[in-house]
Amino acid sequence: MTSSVSIKDLSLDFGAITVLKNLNLEINDGEFLVLLGSSGCGKSTLLNCIAGLLDITEGQIFIKGKNVTWEEPKDRGIGMVFQSYALYPQMTVEKNLSFGLHVAKVPQPEIDKRIARAAEILQIQPLLKRKPAELSGGQRQRVAIGRALVRDVDVFLFDEPLSNLDAKLRSELRVEIKRLHQSLKNTMIYVTHDQIEALTLADRIAIMKSGIIQQLDDPTTIYNKPRNLFVAGFIGSPSMNFLRGELVNREGKIVFATNDVLFSLDGYEAGERLEAGRKVVLGVRPEHIKVNEGLGAETHDATVDIEEPMGADNLLWLNHAGHTMSVRINGARRFGPGSRLKLGFDMTLASLFDAQTELRI
Ligand SMILES: Nc1ncnc2c1ncn2[C@@H]1O[C@H](COP(=O)(O)OP(=O)(O)OP(=O)(O)O)[C@@H](O)[C@H]1O
Ligand SMILES: [Mg+2]
Repeated sequence: MTSSVSIKDLSLDFGAITVLKNLNLEINDGEFLVLLGSSGCGKSTLLNCIAGLLDITEGQIFIKGKNVTWEEPKDRGIGMVFQSYALYPQMTVEKNLSFGLHVAKVPQPEIDKRIARAAEILQIQPLLKRKPAELSGGQRQRVAIGRALVRDVDVFLFDEPLSNLDAKLRSELRVEIKRLHQSLKNTMIYVTHDQIEALTLADRIAIMKSGIIQQLDDPTTIYNKPRNLFVAGFIGSPSMNFLRGELVNREGKIVFATNDVLFSLDGYEAGERLEAGRKVVLGVRPEHIKVNEGLGAETHDATVDIEEPMGADNLLWLNHAGHTMSVRINGARRFGPGSRLKLGFDMTLASLFDAQTELRI
């Protein structure tokens, strides 16, 4: 796989504050890479470094094999879409799309061709003569994407393009962005703090905290095999259940103990040898706990505290072993508060972390 964007030992300081330090990232040709993390973790800063909107302190950036570290943004072969659409209010949609091309002295027939193509892909043909004030938020964002599209670039950079839209429009446009990537096959780097956007769009997710990439993997691996407690807690809603406890030896077997309740670890694929006495955190996703049916050899008793029916799913909040746990079951299965349940834990799908280092075991 050839590399499309390559970031080598990138550091960026704002005065005395270091936001990115020795960051390395290789983005494959045609890949949809999502930078995910909470507010202030440095996602936009990293994207702006790639775009050339910020002067980096140290390191190098390559796009399509060319060192662009000190190139102007317009010479990098990138198109950028921002959260604030940044359209020219006095220009029509058509003018907004063509303005940059006129400046770059692209011949008129070529401009017409590219606008027609972008308008078709984004379904904005009927809007071309309107001004931004006469468009809905979703339509404005489509025009903003169109402006990157007409530039015919290698790499698209998106900075939270959907976060100004309401929930319904957001999910509609999310599907369109995915369709856009499937048809264009360009490299796309997409910044978001929304885990659903990340999981649905990405070929790979780089999940960031305090300017450091915590894990870089495909969404399934990130979801099922989080590298550390931070990633495990960040992805998934409601969050993975975390039980703090320790490993103990029971009749020659290492099991997990929390508040005097034991959990067999049969089926858990540990990356290292499990030793008794180690303080650990057991992580179990709400949908990986079985209720009353399909239980394994070991069962646990629990009581329903609160039930949250969500249509397709039903979310139960339970008390077990001194912990509050969430369990996701099919929406048709209902258990009122106070119901006594039998739970089964599937350890093949669980996660185990060292309590001290917070790394996956
Ligand atoms: N021009 C600047 N001068 C000083 N500090 C800055 C500047 N721009 C950003 N920062 C700081 O750098 C850190 C990273 O900011 P950045 O905008 O990259 O975060 P982000 O992950 O995009 O967050 P958000 O989700 O809120 O957009 C933050 O702590 C921010 O306060
Ligand atoms: Mg940002």
